[in-house]
Amino acid sequence: MSIQPKDSIIWRCPSNIAIIKYWGKRGNQIPANSSVSLTLSESFTEVELEFEGKKEKGIELEYYFENQKKPEFEERILRFVQTALNDLPVFLNSKVIIKSKNSFPHSAGIASSASSFGALALALLDASFPRNYENNNTKFLDKASFIARLGSGSACRSMFAPFALWGENQLLKESYDEMAIPVSEVHPEFRDIQDDILIVDSSPKKFSSSLGHSLMKGHAFAESRFAQANQRTPLLINVLANGDWRKFINITESEALTLHAMMLSSEEPFILMKPQTLQIIERIQNFRKETGLPICFTLDAGPNVHVIYSSKIKDEVNSFLNTFINSIGIDVINDKSGNGPVKIR
Ligand code: DP6
Repeated sequence: MSIQPKDSIIWRCPSNIAIIKYWGKRGNQIPANSSVSLTLSESFTEVELEFEGKKEKGIELEYYFENQKKPEFEERILRFVQTALNDLPVFLNSKVIIKSKNSFPHSAGIASSASSFGALALALLDASFPRNYENNNTKFLDKASFIARLGSGSACRSMFAPFALWGENQLLKESYDEMAIPVSEVHPEFRDIQDDILIVDSSPKKFSSSLGHSLMKGHAFAESRFAQANQRTPLLINVLANGDWRKFINITESEALTLHAMMLSSEEPFILMKPQTLQIIERIQNFRKETGLPICFTLDAGPNVHVIYSSKIKDEVNSFLNTFINSIGIDVINDKSGNGPVKIR
């Protein structure tokens, strides 16, 4: 099989924020526990892919990020494409040019591996099997999720919206380690969720997620942490179906703090929260106590705070956050739940 030069393909893939966190993995990108995430809409990556067959054996790859050649990323991307070759055999002897750009500023301190590998997997798959996307969108996204996972675990969840589930769970008949699936039943309460990302620190991530995952190997609390996430997953799936904000808030905040508790208590401990992270958390919890409104926070592997709430209370939350944000002078990215990936060209 060989590929012919043709017009470039462009895919847009959103980022996602985990509610139940994936932290710890084994084997070939197999998660240590099941996770559930909210797929966003405003934070996304667009990947443009050009490719042509060549006579010599092997893959040749050029990678551009925001119009600049980035040889430092080429190695990880090339490794990813090579790992995915079983599923994308057309790239066996080809030259591939990848141009990637993010909707969010590079300096926002937002991890982009989910949207980047998501968009790349979609573009590579579409280039390999052009008719599959039009003919069976669900199967296409399943396969894209499988391939994206090989690049970055969290990327496999970005294929589905508004919520995705990844990782085999004894209590959920349909759940897989190799790919994510959409959460099938989502109550109207959870269909329109806001995620205001408060940028406490915009410098690039201090350490890679891969290093973070590796710290769960031999971690004193690893087994009980994995069991906790596996127990919480079906609880959250139920909560999403029945619209219970109180339980949603409880699981979401505990997951965020548990993720950081794992970092704080690993053999090589990391403190990623900043004083402002704690200050914001406290303000959100106080605001919730005072008003009774359904609002909570979650954290990624970094100091920025994701403020999660229903769009129904947008006005109240906006006036609370604006006063507060102005007083401490930080940037915000207003994101919300989205509809999943889109083919641009
Ligand atoms: C804290 O998906 O970035 O965001 O598979 O090594 O690429 P790799 O890790 P990655 O880990 C994400 C960790 C997290 C939690 C989550 O998204 O579930």
